[in-house]
Amino acid sequence: MVKIAQDIYWTGYIDWNLRSFHGYSTPQGSTYNAYLILDEKPALIDTVKHYGFDEMLLRIKEIIEPGKIKYIISNHTELDHSGSIAKLLACCPDAEVVCSPKGEEGLKKHFLAASKNWQFKVVNSGDTLKIGKHDLKFFLMPMVHWPDSMATYSASDSILFPNDAFGQHYASAERFADEVGMDIVIKEAKKYYANIVMPYGGQVQKALEALKDVKIDVISPSHGLIWRRKEDIEKIITLYKKWSSYESEKSVVIVYDTMWHSTESLAIKLYELIDRENIPVKLFNLQNTHISDIIAEVISARVVAAGSPVLNNKILPTMGAFLTYLKGLKPKNRYGFTFGSYGWAKIAFKELEDSLKEAGMELIGDGSYVNYVPTAEDLDNLNGVVLKIKNLL
Ligand code: FEO
Repeated sequence: MVKIAQDIYWTGYIDWNLRSFHGYSTPQGSTYNAYLILDEKPALIDTVKHYGFDEMLLRIKEIIEPGKIKYIISNHTELDHSGSIAKLLACCPDAEVVCSPKGEEGLKKHFLAASKNWQFKVVNSGDTLKIGKHDLKFFLMPMVHWPDSMATYSASDSILFPNDAFGQHYASAERFADEVGMDIVIKEAKKYYANIVMPYGGQVQKALEALKDVKIDVISPSHGLIWRRKEDIEKIITLYKKWSSYESEKSVVIVYDTMWHSTESLAIKLYELIDRENIPVKLFNLQNTHISDIIAEVISARVVAAGSPVLNNKILPTMGAFLTYLKGLKPKNRYGFTFGSYGWAKIAFKELEDSLKEAGMELIGDGSYVNYVPTAEDLDNLNGVVLKIKNLL
């Protein structure tokens, strides 16, 4: 139980042992943040994943008899936040579930028969719920990052509860970003944005526009640490503006996998030549780096070079998985380059090229494809690609 402001408490669950959030690697774990507002009609903003319910309930009991809760505000249907609603309603059966119109649809579809007797209070953007001293205002944020997503704003404390937006997968005993260190929190917030929010830049910009005149003293997201210092709030909002506009930096990410080190030779040579031009560059072998960590670098890079050998007339499965992920996240305004080694058929490279194009990238000329092992001349030919990259940046 941690006090966020007068009569507002964090009552969430710290998931220290989480290492994968449906495929997003979470080496630092995560938290599911629930917030209890004490007032004439107490309200809980979001719940936690189902297995964190007991801990959340203990935290609530330290503050209030759970049966007194009158509103459970569901900012987002995804089960990491709604997964304990049913169990909590067993403790406070008269409570209303406050959510967006899409939230009601989503909750009914997730909880099926269990939700039949739930009392829903559906809200829209601009609606206000008076719970006593606190007026809670709602901002619908469709597709940031689900159709149902919304933010709740406590006007009397200037606290924004934006659910997944501004969050980070980071477990810690501390609750505030400034207690952990901004470098760490920003790194995790960037990885979170890149992996969860990146496809929805336009919708993020609409949400930021809707909130631009709202006084915000604290941002309390549903994952990770709370932003409370003025400069930290400005910093994360500025970064969200940048990321949502798909701005990139003059840098290159090289991603590859290899069978007999031929594709790796090309990747390393490319890396050396780019580095020699003093262009920031990072090199990732898919065998050693998780795709969610690579995406956290792709969000900054203007050029993505992807390399694979041919296996059974296809690219390697690791590269296939990376490209599938990349196509879904669609980083805009980027350039792509392809390379790889083949034995007797080059058809697989078309998949590499098409995938980068489908991910929204413009290809930098023809790919560099070598038969079996790259010769000194093959490696030297990469100079031409590097010159093109240099001219583009
Ligand atoms: Fe943290 Fe979209 O759930």
